[in-house]
Amino acid sequence: MGVVPAGTAATGVPATTATAVPATTATAVPASTGRPYVLLSCATSIDGYIDDATQERLLLSNAEDMERIDAVRAGCDAILVGAGTIRADDPRLVVRSARLRAARQAAGLPPSPVKVTMTARGLLDPQARFFTVGDAEKVVYCAGPAVDRTTELLSGLATVVDAGDPLDPVRVLADLAGRGVRRLMVEGGASVHAQFLTAGLADELHLVVAPFFVGDRRAPRFVGDGAFPWHPGRRARLAEVRQIGDVVLMRYALSERCADGVPG
Ligand SMILES: NC(=O)c1ccc[n+]([C@@H]2O[C@H](COP(=O)([O-])OP(=O)(O)OC[C@H]3O[C@@H](n4cnc5c(N)ncnc54)[C@H](OP(=O)(O)O)[C@@H]3O)[C@@H](O)[C@H]2O)c1
Repeated sequence: MGVVPAGTAATGVPATTATAVPATTATAVPASTGRPYVLLSCATSIDGYIDDATQERLLLSNAEDMERIDAVRAGCDAILVGAGTIRADDPRLVVRSARLRAARQAAGLPPSPVKVTMTARGLLDPQARFFTVGDAEKVVYCAGPAVDRTTELLSGLATVVDAGDPLDPVRVLADLAGRGVRRLMVEGGASVHAQFLTAGLADELHLVVAPFFVGDRRAPRFVGDGAFPWHPGRRARLAEVRQIGDVVLMRYALSERCADGVPG
């Protein structure tokens, strides 16, 4: 798979609509293309950490919540994580439930959503499960200077898209829309979540709080410093609170596109 500039769709994505981009068709994204619906998903400790400071992956969700996340994934056209999360967690990012995969296929969709990542440096391991697990399309949005070496590194594994320099999430969303992605799940990490939130590019946030503390400032928090559109003078809308075993899910509606009471 080759390099394509952002705004040009060169590979297939789930045919979620009659206007989805067919495979291998180079199509410029119309200026009027709306961005996908963006759902952010994150799990934290009681004290707001999304990981600990060790090399091991910290399990925050419980089994029942993992099933919920699987269903949310199955309802999306694409899943995005930052390159840092691929390096730290080595996530699979596939729909695990055979029933949900079958339902997607019955609807004319691939078993799992497209996998998407963003990188400035292109330092990605081709052996990472992001690239090796599942048959889903993989799209890597890469800053211009690293495109050539990233394309070479990931040859045959992913479509590398030149997303400019600096790489802009708005451009990423426009390109995804051009690929037929209407609903995007963003699963972290901290840097990526912060960018989508501060840029006002999130429609919905699923925040799960696990019943323990991390208590280590070396560990990453949900988001760092930033000018967030939601503050004491502009409170976000709490759409739902749900207890899931020993964790709690808070669903925030961050835009008018998010309907109250409709689970994401
Ligand atoms: N609890 C949860 O729900 C959850 C979920 C996901 C992750 N996590 C945790 O989050 C931590 C990782 O977070 P993180 O902030 O370090 O990493 P991240 O947000 O996953 O990824 C950051 C990396 O993505 C690339 N990137 C992001 N925005 C970019 C942009 N605008 N332009 C170019 N490249 C961009 C850069 O990659 P390059 O460095 O390659 O240039 C950057 O270093 C891990 O500890 C992980 O366990 C927790």
